[in-house]
Amino acid sequence: MNDIGVIFDLDGVIVDTAKYHFLAWKTLAIQLGIPFTLADNERLKGVSRSQSLDILLDIGNLKLSDEEKQAHLKEKNAQYLEYIYKMGTEEILPGVTSLLDHLDTLGIAYVLGSASRNAALILKQVNLLERFAGIVDGNNVSKAKPDPEVFLIGAQHLKLPATHCVVFEDAIAGIDAANAAQMLSVGIGDQQTLSAATFNFNNLTEIPSDFFTKVISENRKHNEPGLYKTK
Ligand code: BG6
Ligand code: MG
Repeated sequence: MNDIGVIFDLDGVIVDTAKYHFLAWKTLAIQLGIPFTLADNERLKGVSRSQSLDILLDIGNLKLSDEEKQAHLKEKNAQYLEYIYKMGTEEILPGVTSLLDHLDTLGIAYVLGSASRNAALILKQVNLLERFAGIVDGNNVSKAKPDPEVFLIGAQHLKLPATHCVVFEDAIAGIDAANAAQMLSVGIGDQQTLSAATFNFNNLTEIPSDFFTKVISENRKHNEPGLYKTK
């Protein structure tokens, strides 16, 4: 059963690393005298590392040279990695392992489509790296989400047309990227925030057991390229 394939975002879908990004950005913000709250951190979700720094500097109304920015990006990542190296399987979000098991049973392949340049390391830390048929991350793309590039490369790894891919995402930029790629987008998290998604669930434990078989059968029934969409 391989009419469809799945692309998972990492941060906020497989693991909750936003808290570690926050701690590392907060350290830099304090150093630069920029007020930075958890609400501000929401703006960094799904956004690349360098864009995140630009948002932080924007909040502080601060302009830095490219050299200074590079140095801060390096420091921020070094601090972030200290948290990442302490991660273990206990940090896998609820529902992830059973969903991957379910996909394995159905014979549906899955790859990662993340903005993070630390994606492979994080998956290794939580012992999930070997399960993915491919990894597309911040090291493989030239355009960040909401550009669809990361997911379109994911579709190539799955050897499927983009319209036969299902994307699980927790960020607005990621849902926009999936929609722009003409994939079926599944928003994980707040439904109002992710209202552009085709389907919405609070977390992966809520995915109905017949979700994928229904998507496949609707797709076949409509006998057209592209997945059946409810919206
Ligand atoms: C995304 C996160 O997955 O990765 C963003 O949601 C983060 O918050 C981005 O900025 C880049 O991560 P990294 O690990 O390359 O700094
Ligand atoms: Mg995410």
